[in-house]
Amino acid sequence: MNPHVAAPMRLTTLTVFCICLLATVVRPSCLLGDEPVQLTAKDKLVVETVLRLQNFDLESSPPAKAAVLRYLRAEPGSDRYFELIERFKPAEIADSLIEYSLGNASDTGGVRGAELLFAMNKGKSLAAITKSENENQAQAAVQLIGHAAGKQTVSILLPLLHSSTATVAVRSAAVKALGKRLDGQQQIMKLVTAGELADELKFAAANALLGSSNAEVATNAAKYLELPATADSQPLPALAELVKRKGDPQAGLKVFQTVGTCNKCHKVQGKGKEVGPDLSEIGSKLSREAMYVSILDPSAAVSHNFETYSILTLDGLAVTGLLISETDKSVTLRNSEGIDKTIDQDDIDIYKKQKTSLMPQDLQKLLTVDQLVNLVEYALTLKKTGN
Ligand code: HEC
Repeated sequence: MNPHVAAPMRLTTLTVFCICLLATVVRPSCLLGDEPVQLTAKDKLVVETVLRLQNFDLESSPPAKAAVLRYLRAEPGSDRYFELIERFKPAEIADSLIEYSLGNASDTGGVRGAELLFAMNKGKSLAAITKSENENQAQAAVQLIGHAAGKQTVSILLPLLHSSTATVAVRSAAVKALGKRLDGQQQIMKLVTAGELADELKFAAANALLGSSNAEVATNAAKYLELPATADSQPLPALAELVKRKGDPQAGLKVFQTVGTCNKCHKVQGKGKEVGPDLSEIGSKLSREAMYVSILDPSAAVSHNFETYSILTLDGLAVTGLLISETDKSVTLRNSEGIDKTIDQDDIDIYKKQKTSLMPQDLQKLLTVDQLVNLVEYALTLKKTGN
C-alpha cells in the first residue's frame, strides 16, 4: 500500500506533491465529453488518496481534479461517486448528476443524487426541470424534489398545482410529493377548503391527506375529500392500503374480460380491442401502486402516444379520441369505442390536446374492492417473459 495513503490525516507537502505527480501523468484529454471514460489505475489511486486527506483542496490541483471528474463520469452511482461529490462538490458534475438522478428517480441512488444537488446549491436546476415539456423528466424531478428538497419542497412544488402548462400527471405527482410533508399537506388542505384544488387532482389529494398521521389534517380532509365509491357503495381504500392486499389473478382475468370492460379497449395476448395500449407486458412496466393509479386515476398517468385530442367541427360535431394520423388534408381520431373518425382539416374549428385520458375516470364504480384487487393481481402477472 502507498505509505501516504496509510497516513491519511496529515496533509504533508510531500503528499500533495505525490498526488499532483500521479495525476499529471494521467491523460487529461478525457475530462469532458460523452465518449466512454477510461479509468486508469492511477486515477483510482488519486481518488482513494484525496478522499483520505482531510481538508484537501481539490481546486488547488487541476490534475487531481481531472482524475476525480474522470472517476465521477466513469462510475456514476457508486459509493465512491457519492462520497466524492459530497466531499468536493465539483460544480462541473452538476449537469450529469441531474441526469443521473432523473434516470434513477425511483431508486435510493437517484434520491441521494438529488440531496447532493441541493447541498451543492443546484436545487434550482432540478426545480426548473419540473416545468419541462418532457413529462417523464418533469415527473421524475417532482418526485426527487419530494424526497430531497426538505423545507424548500412547498415553495417549489405548490405553484405546479395551479400550473396551466403542466400535465395532470405532473401535477398529481406534485400533490403526492407535497403529501409526504406536514407543511405540504396543510397547503393542499388550504386549497381544498378554499375550493381552489382542481378536480383532476382530488384523487391524488384524497390519497395524500385522508391517511395523514396528523389528526387535524385527516379529520379536516374527511370533511371535504372522499375516495370514489366502488360497486358495493364502499369508498375505495386509500392507495397505501390497497397496495398491501393480495388478490387472485384467475378471478382478475375474469373481471378484465367482463364487468371491468377492460378488454373493450385493451388487447392482451392478441385478444381485445385496441383503443388503449396493449397490456400483454404491463406487469413488467408498472409497480403495484402505479397499476392502481393507472386504473383509478388514468389522467394522472397518461402513457405516451395515448394523449387524447378533441375536435369541434365548423358544423358543431365534437369528436374526442386518440390521434391515429394527421396529414395536411385530414385528422383521424379513434374514439373510446374503437371507432376511427376522419375529419377534413378544412372542417375543423377547434383542435386541441386534452389533459385527461380517454380511459374512463370512474371504472371503480363497476368493481367491488375485491374485484379491483384481483384485477390488479392479474395485470401484474402480465410480464415480458409470459406468466
Ligand atoms: C374506453 C377505453 C378504455 C377502457 C374501458 C379501459 N382503458 Fe385502460 N387505457 C385506455 C387508454 C386510451 C389508455 C392510454 C392513456 C392513459 O394512459 O391513460 C389506457 C391506459 C391504461 C393503463 C396504463 C398503460 C401504460 O402503458 O401505462 C392501464 C394499466 C390500463 N389502462 C388498465 C385498464 C384496466 C385494468 C381497465 C379495466 C378496468 C381499463 N384499462 C379500461 C383506455 C381504456
